[in-house]
Amino acid sequence: STGGLVDTFGRTATDLRVSLTDRCNLRCSYCMPAEGLDWLPHEETLTDDEVVRLITIGVERLGIEEVRFTGGEPLVRRGLVDIVRRTAQLRPRPETSLTTNALGLQRTAQALAEAGLDRVNVSLDTIRREHFLEITRRDRLDDVVRGLEAAKEAGLGPVKVNAVLLRGVNDDQGPELLRWCLERGYELRFIEQMPLDAQHVWRRDTMVTADEIFASLESQFELTPAEEPRGSAPAELFTVDGGPATVGVIASVTRPFCGDCDRVRLTADGQVRNCLFAREESDLRAALRGGADDEEIADRWRAAMMTKRPGHGIDDTSFLQPTRPMSAIGG
Ligand code: GTP
Ligand code: 5AD
Ligand code: SF4
Repeated sequence: STGGLVDTFGRTATDLRVSLTDRCNLRCSYCMPAEGLDWLPHEETLTDDEVVRLITIGVERLGIEEVRFTGGEPLVRRGLVDIVRRTAQLRPRPETSLTTNALGLQRTAQALAEAGLDRVNVSLDTIRREHFLEITRRDRLDDVVRGLEAAKEAGLGPVKVNAVLLRGVNDDQGPELLRWCLERGYELRFIEQMPLDAQHVWRRDTMVTADEIFASLESQFELTPAEEPRGSAPAELFTVDGGPATVGVIASVTRPFCGDCDRVRLTADGQVRNCLFAREESDLRAALRGGADDEEIADRWRAAMMTKRPGHGIDDTSFLQPTRPMSAIGG
């Protein structure tokens, strides 16, 4: 067949999210246990050349327009800068971005920008050192702050900050985090927690909802829905105190946006996932290592879109959490 990555509901995936490793140097309590997880063995992880080959097929044959690198933590992958450079050299040139915890970004932001990276999104749930330690189990807040500054200086912007609020931990810190980001020119987005944690502690009735986040922010700020069309972006944007600054809310659970989804995911071990919550994957690594040519791989990738379901189904009684945790999908 020919053409792009179209599913049976008429959605077309143009945004590829590539997980470069399932490993991470933080241990966020809502993501993984203190002892970490059983990491992918080296030989099952795609090599730099294999990752770049799949991205190239996506861009040249399947209509991929944006490539976002994720993890685990993508900065722990040694070949990251090189993979970014080779991706940014493809034609038509895809937009490139990185979702990171920013540990070590201070050292690599400039090289990433020179390699052609366009933007970074940084995960930061609190600006209080004690709470950062409690949530991530590592005392590294200063490194994140420095990483953010380096990203801004390197022009990797607009720099976005992703925050997950946890009940009884940092759910009262929304306004303070927003003020901190406004002062520094970072675009903050609050994310509703999704059932993708390795320990299965997520609960629908205790997650912090978008409505609660609004209420808490509106006690200190005036929020107005931003006019710009949202398109397929997960974040709903609001201008703060008349603008131009904005704050976003990614309400995956209470206001799903699956109907406009334009995403497809590639795991570090070369599996295509047509959804964060997909129950099956398509093994491009096997095709690649079995000697398939580019068009055969493209065909297999197109076929993988056919099982994409209309929505995540988190509120269905039949909902099953995917076996692969968030850290091995890349968010
Ligand atoms: P921008 O293009 O910069 O807006 O990035 P993004 O928000 O799409 O990506 P990012 O990696 O920063 O992810 C922020 C949050 O959105 C994370 O919790 C992701 O898991 C979530 N997210 C990203 N894509 C999807 C998606 O297709 N579906 C759902 N439900 N959540 C998503
Ligand atoms: N639900 C929503 N967002 C999550 N993240 C990690 N785990 C979850 C979850 N269960 C966030 C990270 C990062 C982004 C990729 O996803 O904090 O910012
Ligand atoms: Fe690492 Fe991200 Fe998981 Fe935190 S949420 S442990 S930064 S992969």
